[in-house]
Amino acid sequence: MSIKLTGIRKSYGSTEVVKGVDLEIAEGQFLVLLGPSGCGKTTLLRIVAGLESATQGEVYIQGQEVTNVLPKYRDIAMVFQSYALYPHMSVMQNIGYPLLLRKVPKEERDEAVLKAAQAVHLEPYLQRYPKQLSGGQRQRVALARAMVRRPKLFLMDEPLSNLDAQLRSQMRAELKHLQKKLAVTTVYVTHDQIEAMTLADKVAVINQGVVQQLAPPREIYNDPANLFVAGFVGSPRMNFIRGAIKQGIFSSRSCEFLCPKMADQSAAVLGVRPEDISIVAGEGQIRAAIYSIELTGDETIVTCSIDDEQTSAQIVVRMPADFESQIGEVVSVKITSKRVYLFDAQSQLRLRADGEGEVL
Ligand SMILES: Nc1ncnc2c1ncn2[C@@H]1O[C@H](COP(=O)(O)OP(=O)(O)O)[C@@H](O)[C@H]1O
Ligand SMILES: [Mg+2]
Repeated sequence: MSIKLTGIRKSYGSTEVVKGVDLEIAEGQFLVLLGPSGCGKTTLLRIVAGLESATQGEVYIQGQEVTNVLPKYRDIAMVFQSYALYPHMSVMQNIGYPLLLRKVPKEERDEAVLKAAQAVHLEPYLQRYPKQLSGGQRQRVALARAMVRRPKLFLMDEPLSNLDAQLRSQMRAELKHLQKKLAVTTVYVTHDQIEAMTLADKVAVINQGVVQQLAPPREIYNDPANLFVAGFVGSPRMNFIRGAIKQGIFSSRSCEFLCPKMADQSAAVLGVRPEDISIVAGEGQIRAAIYSIELTGDETIVTCSIDDEQTSAQIVVRMPADFESQIGEVVSVKITSKRVYLFDAQSQLRLRADGEGEVL
């Protein structure tokens, strides 16, 4: 099932929370709406489901306008952040309920329930009641119930948010596998950038009711459209250094970077990820002082202080596990990759030029 949103706006009273969203989702695609809490993700998903009406704009499903069509005619299965299970029904009955409503014969129903339960590792709990389950188990019942009837469209609102870390990554892999196997078009809402990167065919990064960038995960990571996207995706996040570009040199109090093809810019931001810089013995582009050193096991996360344009700032460098230094030591940081981004500090947009990102 393909979906198209055109010019969607939504206001509550005088507050506009969705500000003109255009999105297209192809049949079988996994689209993730990614953004911070309150940016309008749930509102947008509810508009696709028909549970909320848009103030302006149109929703199309399979090319048909459904803007004013009731949810029950849209053949959609939704999993909400706050899942609602029937307390008086067992896990088996809860999962099978959508099939019971559709008068699917018992044998066929039981088989489908078992399959769905297996997919989310719930077979041992089929006879239990919701109150006898943990939060994570209940969430998985909700997922299985959404999957059981093979809808044409899955809408999921932070469905893994109540699971512990290990189960979450396990369920993430499970969800991705299932979605590909069933090839059901899916719109998935999350504020978790790792979930977005791992699950999505395409990510729509949203901030304050506006789509900032719509692209495959790799492109979101490697080619961010603006400062917001650059800072939201990646952990530890991208380093930002404020300065100015003049005659092909970005400079800040502790940084100098050659960018001969860039136009002058009085207020610019240089962005570079922690894995694209390194503390070196020789010359680097950034002068810094060691602030803290954290060994994670397979690598060392080094935080350094630098002098930014106005105030002091910090940058983070990923170093090998055997990196050693002292707090306070003055070091050179070298940009080791071509992945250097420059932004206009005012508009927050990427500054682009041919052959950008030359390393010194
Ligand atoms: N029914 C409502 N009435 C008034 N404001 C609402 C309502 N639902 C959501 N909002 C507001 O709209 C904004 C977006 O909410 P929501 O879509 O739930 O964000 P997200 O899912 O990204 O966290 C928030 O500021 C929220 O407070
Ligand atoms: Mg939400």
